Amino acid sequence: MKQKWISILISGILLIGCLTGCNNGAANSSEPESASPSSTQTPTDTSSSEGKNSGEKTSAPVFDFESRTVMLNSGYEMPIAGLGTYALSDEECYNSVTALLEAGGRLVDTAHIYGNEAAVGRAVRDSDVPREEIFVITKLYPNQFANAEEAIEEALAKLDIEYIDMMLLHHPGENDVEAYKAMEKAVEEGKIRSIGLSNWYVEELTEFLPQVTITPALVQNEIHPYYQENDVIPFIQEKGIVMQGWYPFGGRGHTAELLGDEVISEIAEDYGVTSAQVILRWNLQKSVVVIPGSSNPDHIRENLDLFGFELTDEEMERINALDRGEKHDWY
Ligand SMILES: NC(=O)c1ccc[n+]([C@@H]2O[C@H](COP(=O)([O-])OP(=O)(O)OC[C@H]3O[C@@H](n4cnc5c(N)ncnc54)[C@H](OP(=O)(O)O)[C@@H]3O)[C@@H](O)[C@H]2O)c1
Repeated sequence: MKQKWISILISGILLIGCLTGCNNGAANSSEPESASPSSTQTPTDTSSSEGKNSGEKTSAPVFDFESRTVMLNSGYEMPIAGLGTYALSDEECYNSVTALLEAGGRLVDTAHIYGNEAAVGRAVRDSDVPREEIFVITKLYPNQFANAEEAIEEALAKLDIEYIDMMLLHHPGENDVEAYKAMEKAVEEGKIRSIGLSNWYVEELTEFLPQVTITPALVQNEIHPYYQENDVIPFIQEKGIVMQGWYPFGGRGHTAELLGDEVISEIAEDYGVTSAQVILRWNLQKSVVVIPGSSNPDHIRENLDLFGFELTDEEMERINALDRGEKHDWY
């Protein structure tokens, strides 16, 4: 009898211990799960950033449609839908970034060559949104590669937002490996959080990756229904690198054709959404981050409203079948 009570007592102690442990575990694991897009967390997985594993296969990044973010291999979260600012004047850019932030968007893509980094920075600083929730991407242009350290300082000064969330090399070019190493150094110094590449394809990546230490967190290339890069996307994603598409609507001068495409318009009509939303949703379901360009606040809001419908496999296939390998720019 006495033994039975001792055994009940021990089981009770073990149970309480387990419950306390489980609760702690739950509290700890829920801590980084922010409901809204955020890049606030401390980097968690540095396995790839510790590097020398650039060519290794690892698991493809998974989009979280609840938080609308993806976890980068640098350990930072990035929103999966945002705004591109190519061809936007300073005033348009300031107003567009402001409209994006007011509408709940948190991801902005700019570049040295767009000439509007300062306007992006001003809109970020003027907004009520905490800096940590906003994710700004900028890029070094090839004519800056020879003096990349200086160019990084220039970008930091123009943006004036404490740190750069993501910096990309805009195109392959002379001294690109050296420029990438300068970005790696800036990561170590806490000036840049994540780094990546733009307009690098299979051949370029195969040659480039073994020469650098930090695996790129992201590659940004032209992707739209008429130019789908179906061979490049899995090659990049299988390395644990996030894919981001530019010209989602084909780029200026081509948008009418894409947005008016019969297949896309038909699917849009079925869901009571726009062709633009179908194209962006198709990208997201392929785990491609979208940064549509716009200076129209209505479009900016519309381009964020992508989470109330889901394309079926058959609809995805119908859009996949539109691929024509039709590149709309030379790079
Ligand atoms: N890494 C690279 O080499 C590279 C190259 C090109 C672009 N990019 C980046 O990718 C971003 C996207 O490309 P992009 O801006 O050139 O072209 P895009 O996003 O394919 O198209 C922009 C055009 O689409 C219109 N648009 C936007 N939302 C719309 C909507 N909901 N309904 C109807 N029309 C809409 C815009 O007009 P409104 O202003 O009237 O909305 C604008 O004329 C750029 O802004 C840039 O950040 C990167």
